Amino acid sequence: MTSAPHQGRVLVLAGSDSGGGAGIQADIKTITALGGYAATAITAITVQNTLGVTGVHPIPLDIVEAQARAVLDDIGADAFKTGMLGDAATVEVVARVLDSAPKTRNGAVPAVIDPVMIAKGGASLLAQQAIGALKSLLVPRAALLTPNAPEAAALTGLTVETTDDLRRAGEALLELGAHAVLMKGGHVAGERVVDLLITRQGETAFEGERIETRHTHGTGCTLASACATGLAQGLGLTESVARAWNYVHEAMLRAPGFGAGHGPLDHAWGVRK
Ligand SMILES: Nc1ncnc2c1ncn2[C@@H]1O[C@H](COP(=O)(O)OP(=O)(O)OP(=O)(O)O)[C@@H](O)[C@H]1O
Ligand SMILES: [Mg+2]
Repeated sequence: MTSAPHQGRVLVLAGSDSGGGAGIQADIKTITALGGYAATAITAITVQNTLGVTGVHPIPLDIVEAQARAVLDDIGADAFKTGMLGDAATVEVVARVLDSAPKTRNGAVPAVIDPVMIAKGGASLLAQQAIGALKSLLVPRAALLTPNAPEAAALTGLTVETTDDLRRAGEALLELGAHAVLMKGGHVAGERVVDLLITRQGETAFEGERIETRHTHGTGCTLASACATGLAQGLGLTESVARAWNYVHEAMLRAPGFGAGHGPLDHAWGVRK
């Protein structure tokens, strides 16, 4: 693994996954494995394993906001990462937190916005009415937006089924104000998986063989957190995404095989020599 210039503090605003494969647990493991420092503001506690989500306990809004403020007032953050937000009111709180963070030498603290909508097992993690808030309040604040194909379709109203569709939707999301978008191709059919990093300067493709596995729980959370860690550590955008892509790919290949459903990744592959 490349050694990073400094530790990099990432404040994650997302939900807890009791199964440990996705959500806050995947975020903390990823950030730590890549040498960063993870702090969290938990938005919801989910009752979850590899088979699915069977309960959701939202955290009161004032406690979500207070967690973030407690971290920012004392520890600080070099990047934000958002995941499961649940409802429009939580989206509004998160937008307020991002706005109020002290600026750095290079401007606003970069935010990786993972517009989580549906869990791998099919459970809804974002109210339908919150999509508008996500679009108007968080997409324009994204240093990097990381939608999967269904999320890109929900945010743009476009059909997203092919790599070309990913490109068109990505361009539409830049129009909505995202600074950059990483369009994930996990849900696009084909023997190869293609993710597209799209900015106003152009496009970079990250491409590999589709891995035949059911152990893909938390791939999206892991990728977004790894990107945020790179940005927090002062890596460039493309370098952050490239390292993240490689980290997720290896973690999938080395999945431990736990659970009877969508199993978790091996987040510790680079740590366990
Ligand atoms: N079968 C696969 N083989 C190789 N890479 C994959 C596979 N499935 C997903 N990926 C990669 O994992 C990352 C996450 O993509 P995906 O489209 O699955 O996101 P997601 O749907 O948000 O995930 P999650 O359900 O965990 O939120 C991307 O980099 C994607 O290319
Ligand atoms: Mg996802």
